[in-house]
Amino acid sequence: MNQAGHTPAWFFPQGGIKVKEYHFPKDFWWGSASSATQMEGAANKDGKGKNIWDYWYEIEPNRFFHKIGPSETSQFYERYKEDIALMKELGHNSFRFSISWSRLIPTGDGEVNLKAVQFYNQVLEELRKHGIEPFVNLYHFDMPFEMQEKGGWESREVVKAYVNYAEKCFDLFGDRVNKWFTHNEPIVPVENQYLYGHHYPALCDFQKCVQAGFHSILASALAIRAYHKKNLGGQIGIILNLTPSYPRSQHPADVEAATIADAFFNRSFLDPSVKGTFPSELVDVLKKEGFMPHIEESDLEVIKENTVDLLGINYYQPRRVKAKENLFNPNAPFMPERYFEYYDMPGKKMNLYRGWEIYEKGIYDILLNVKENYGNIECFISENGMGVENESRFLNEDGMIEDHYRIEFYEEHLRWVHKAIQEGVNVKGYHVWTFLDNWSWLNAYKNRYGLVSVDLDNDFQRTVKKSGYWFKQLATTGVITQ
Ligand code: NOJ
Repeated sequence: MNQAGHTPAWFFPQGGIKVKEYHFPKDFWWGSASSATQMEGAANKDGKGKNIWDYWYEIEPNRFFHKIGPSETSQFYERYKEDIALMKELGHNSFRFSISWSRLIPTGDGEVNLKAVQFYNQVLEELRKHGIEPFVNLYHFDMPFEMQEKGGWESREVVKAYVNYAEKCFDLFGDRVNKWFTHNEPIVPVENQYLYGHHYPALCDFQKCVQAGFHSILASALAIRAYHKKNLGGQIGIILNLTPSYPRSQHPADVEAATIADAFFNRSFLDPSVKGTFPSELVDVLKKEGFMPHIEESDLEVIKENTVDLLGINYYQPRRVKAKENLFNPNAPFMPERYFEYYDMPGKKMNLYRGWEIYEKGIYDILLNVKENYGNIECFISENGMGVENESRFLNEDGMIEDHYRIEFYEEHLRWVHKAIQEGVNVKGYHVWTFLDNWSWLNAYKNRYGLVSVDLDNDFQRTVKKSGYWFKQLATTGVITQ
């Protein structure tokens, strides 16, 4: 059987062929990332309150691929012991999970749910037993429903409630958690809830989007301030999805388009989080278009003074940008895409199983940028991974998924990470997305990302994929070869 077990003999390359080796630092963080809504399941259990995903599924199940909702995620709530033991078996020395705000504080603000405290305590204990460092994130797209009713990130009241929740987490778990994160990919819920209409409440309103974005940055800074005040001795950071923007050509109009895309989608959160300031290119556009958010007196000072200790970088794909060629329509609702267009780079490498571009060097470009323009802040790759549709077609006779494409994907990115380390980037680790095949928002289980597969038709049974064994070897030796 290939459950946890031992690495099968066929895994190791034969013979004494001389290969190039890439050695990673001894104390590199190897592990994976996850999120509460995507992994826990037990959405209505033990006093958990509703979040926007639970609610949306209740009222519009058709939005979700194969109508699978957040209550049917990978059962980590019940199976955390088994899963953490398997993480250990597959070489993890660190693991990121998120606390579900609505599990800990069912209405978002108010009483703490003791069953939730017990659950997260048990998870931490299990990780400790296996020597796996917990990386704990406070917000991963999962606004408690009551908080959304109050306006979600649009509302200052919700910012306040979030900071209370963050403080509760620091008080309850801060003695055992040394790596905290205020948000995962904060731009994603903001743009999807308020601009592109993909997440509940599915609006297309740029003013609300800007306000919600500003408030999530403010919330992050306030949580950082609260954490530092408690002197718990750990670090607090943020996890950002960075999408390097490459212009189609060096023509000034294309370069300008890429600069604006970068200001909107990367620097809007990266600059305030690391430098405490906002990019002038972004502020100029917002002013010109009349979309500045409402800012209260001390907000900018709070943001300036409370920047992150470390930065998590999620990288999947770049953004290919060119100057706008279609007629600019001043009456169309505002979108950042008013200022640039995307283009299809001829010959780009694609993930054939999902349709996303694969551009491995992007990870290096991001890291170099962090070194050169963001004070070489301590950072790590907090997500990198490959989603694959219909992955069961790669099952072998022993019932294992032979995901050589994923191994190749990881190795090619890691060679660039290695180069960045050699060039002095302060990058401390690499977490894959993800350990177990998990539920991904509207796509539910459409694209599988795990090192370990989950069989939805067979009691969510876990089976290690080929990439799981590969990861084990990587994490235990710290070496990849070419
Ligand atoms: C980013 C997010 O953090 C996670 O929630 C999502 O499922 C993965 N990337 C894969 O798209």
